[in-house]
Amino acid sequence: MIGGGFRREERTVEQKRLQLTIQAPAVHKEFSRRLFGLFFENLGSVLQGGLLATEGDGHETVCGMRRDVLDALKAVHIRLVRLPGGDYADNYHWMDGIGEPANRPKRYNGNWKINEDNRFGTHEFIALCEYLEADPHFVVNVGTGSVEEARAWIEYCNHPCGTELSELRKRNGREKPFNVRLWAVGNEPFNRGGLMRAEYYADQYRNYAYFMRLMDPTIELILPAAFTEPFGWDERVLELVCRGHRAPVPEHISVHAYWGGDVGNSWDYSGSQYYEAFSGLERVRERLHTLAGMCDSFSGGEKKIRLSVDEYACWYPDAKDPALYQHCTLRDSLIAARMLQYVAMMGDSVSMLCVSEGINALLALIFVQGAEMCLTPAYYAYKMLSEHIGGEIQDILAGDAFHRTGPRQDIETVTVLATQHRGRIVISMVNVSLVEDIRVDVRTEKPLRDVKVSILSSYDVHDENVPGCREKVRPLERQAVCDGISVSCCLPKHSIVLLTANV
Ligand code: AHR
Repeated sequence: MIGGGFRREERTVEQKRLQLTIQAPAVHKEFSRRLFGLFFENLGSVLQGGLLATEGDGHETVCGMRRDVLDALKAVHIRLVRLPGGDYADNYHWMDGIGEPANRPKRYNGNWKINEDNRFGTHEFIALCEYLEADPHFVVNVGTGSVEEARAWIEYCNHPCGTELSELRKRNGREKPFNVRLWAVGNEPFNRGGLMRAEYYADQYRNYAYFMRLMDPTIELILPAAFTEPFGWDERVLELVCRGHRAPVPEHISVHAYWGGDVGNSWDYSGSQYYEAFSGLERVRERLHTLAGMCDSFSGGEKKIRLSVDEYACWYPDAKDPALYQHCTLRDSLIAARMLQYVAMMGDSVSMLCVSEGINALLALIFVQGAEMCLTPAYYAYKMLSEHIGGEIQDILAGDAFHRTGPRQDIETVTVLATQHRGRIVISMVNVSLVEDIRVDVRTEKPLRDVKVSILSSYDVHDENVPGCREKVRPLERQAVCDGISVSCCLPKHSIVLLTANV
């Protein structure tokens, strides 16, 4: 029996109603394409056995990547890709990953206990980004690398011509610069990136930032935050980096938002463990607001330091090192949708969001097993919420207070995000209750036309898509009752509902 028997207690109680009014916003905030980011690295079967084709398996390929996987990522509107890690980055030397793949050196990457053949390097990263029309976000090696190695990578990628490295790029098949704008100075220097103290890292950052910007002053720098532990690290680093003479203030601060605790396994959880995953997300949300406030106090003049939440997942105990494989059930799709809503609601305090690790590990959008590929419930959550990209975030007034759920009543039962773009309104709603269907009445300022509703849910919240049963959890079209400026629809328990209309 899965889930400690909580399904026996499951029942639908009397339907509650929620009244919402959507209004033009007081302050302009756009749902940025950079919230649709993917972070992955070479661990487990993310690359080998995932994105990359195996020789002779008959898959159509683009630069060694499986076209079916690429097309699935493209269809979900991934618009940012963060590479090469992760912990991987602090053991990675970019020069190993250029030139003829057969001639590239093989190295051991201790963090993920993997022999790296370097066949997926800079040109392949960029081919991936260009295929997806995504922005590349590169992480330089601070742990075992050097300032010169980081500077040289920027020269190789961004310098037009006339230097040894820009000419080498051309000889390697790329005439025009790659124009990589986003550069992170290390991954987690306080942890597997070298166990650095705040003072030591701050000096490293200043040195890297100075020479990286000297190479290309148009780049945006990302400084890693500890976010949770070691406590006080972020404030200390920001103090040392952002104050004083010619302070190299970063454009972004990197946040890795993982949580777990008593959440059960990825596929086997009780009702209270189900809710604990959402309580964890609420705590992450509070910490994001606290960190955004801290960044504001260190931002100077025109420059606002913004949060790059470039790794996130609910990390279950069954995701073991080094493969980090975990299941992805309907619960994870609700988590993903809510995370997207929460960071979007933070407006320009958050610049980027990347799901970790996207393929075959942690919060997977796609599972690849041999020739088979299946799209997870989280994939469909992303697909639905991608409708928000580019839209202006609307203000939402609720008739009553949003009610709360979970054993500690610390979780919002329903979260809502509305955007509008070129006369089209998009409203995503996430109901995490295990027992309550909720009726939502939405009012808008202008009459709605062509209303469409789609719902992602399933009979059992443990449901997932697996090879052999790939379509168990997928969005279905539903009817909405529309009367000019008001629409009414039902949010079933544990569901994501997307309402779109022309206004
Ligand atoms: O995603 C797995 C690891 O978690 C990443 O490599 C690291 O940045 C984080 O601690």
